[in-house]
Amino acid sequence: MKKITVIGTGYVGLVSGTGLSDFGHQVTCCDIDEKKITALKNGQIPIYEPGLEEVIKRNIEQGRLVFTTELAQSIRSAEVVFIAVGTPQSDNGEADISAVLKVAEEIGQNLNRYKVVCTKSTVPVGTGQQVSQIIRENSNGSDQFGYVSNPEFLREGAAVKDFLWPDRVVIGADSERSFNIMKDVYRPLYINETPIVHTTIATAETIKYASNAFLAMKITFINEVANLCEAVNADVHQVAKAMGLDGRISAKFLHPGPGYGGSCFPKDTNALVSIAEKAGVEIATIKATIAANQAQKQRMVDKLRKLAGGDFTNRKIAVLGLAFKPQTDDVRDSAAIIMLRELYAAGADVTAYDPVAAESMRALFPDLNCADSWQAAVADADAAVIMTEWNEFRAMDLKMMKSMMKTAVLLDTRNIIPPADLERLGFKFDNVGRQS
Ligand code: UDX
Repeated sequence: MKKITVIGTGYVGLVSGTGLSDFGHQVTCCDIDEKKITALKNGQIPIYEPGLEEVIKRNIEQGRLVFTTELAQSIRSAEVVFIAVGTPQSDNGEADISAVLKVAEEIGQNLNRYKVVCTKSTVPVGTGQQVSQIIRENSNGSDQFGYVSNPEFLREGAAVKDFLWPDRVVIGADSERSFNIMKDVYRPLYINETPIVHTTIATAETIKYASNAFLAMKITFINEVANLCEAVNADVHQVAKAMGLDGRISAKFLHPGPGYGGSCFPKDTNALVSIAEKAGVEIATIKATIAANQAQKQRMVDKLRKLAGGDFTNRKIAVLGLAFKPQTDDVRDSAAIIMLRELYAAGADVTAYDPVAAESMRALFPDLNCADSWQAAVADADAAVIMTEWNEFRAMDLKMMKSMMKTAVLLDTRNIIPPADLERLGFKFDNVGRQS
């Protein structure tokens, strides 16, 4: 059992801190946001993440997980300090690491004994050196710490599972001592034979960006193949399935859609381009991925406009799904944002429905008209568009839908409704890379 402090109770910090306490460690989660900490102490979870509440409650009850705003004290009491504060995208595409550097100062000022300082936040290659330098400067040149880069690969909606059963753990460490301490932190995973990848710090930082950029590129590739399928009358699902049977390719992340969104892929692809530019290296694949993904989001708007008869003005449009993917209320960089923006700009009468993300989207579109069921959203609509593949949309009664709409027009940007069913019922429809 180790004494661990996690600084930052955002998505990554909260899930990691909770997961580490579930491994049996004594964990303190620290944040400067007093409201958030008070809420967490009372068992109120600020994000929607399946399974998280239960694991938090269990570990609070068993005395392994505490929440505090006392930064100095929580650093002093810990053997391992995780930095999990936000690294938002700054105007030039780079990650803004000011919060990470501020935490490094505090760690330096409270370096009372040997600690491992471990960065979980996604930071540009080279940040490790900067953090170590700042800790030394703020601790009279002390070397009583080891620095580790331990990137997270958590998917929203599956984050608890991803933390407790990861495909691999990457530990970029500057010394054997700090690596061995981190190995102990993740020891409970040995039972599942989880690979622990030991690298240098710069390599670990690069692994994170390369992994996310590759997945973003893979999705974008299948999206472009889907667009080609439309032109040559092929079916992208069969193409993807057969491609995925090749072990070198694998079937995952080959599902075509309206363009990736979320808190990671858009930010990390931009950051990787910026890192490469700074290093004087051309990274053409990722530049192309970013441009093609933007075009894919726009392409969905063009498809819907065409289906709706060429013009959105005063047309009643039902937008089904707002989150960037199911099982989350996160709408960051969701393809639905571009859709709503264009619908409003063209004077459409929009009614949206999402099981959990309506409030998050209202932060961007305060006047967004949200229904409380898909049925209420499609009632009397001229056209409907599925933007997120929530299970309840897969199970929609299409006959009922048709009878409720003014005209049975459906764009399925997630390919969750069998085209044959829509055809049989007489819908005018479209999707991504299948028949229409
Ligand atoms: C991602 C990475 O998977 C995770 O490892 C990393 O730490 C953070 O970024 P996340 O953003 O939560 O996780 O979601 P993910 O499930 O990867 O989906 C990202 C986007 O790609 C979503 O908009 C999703 O709809 C889209 N996507 C995903 C596709 O369009 N097709 C696919 O086949 C897979």
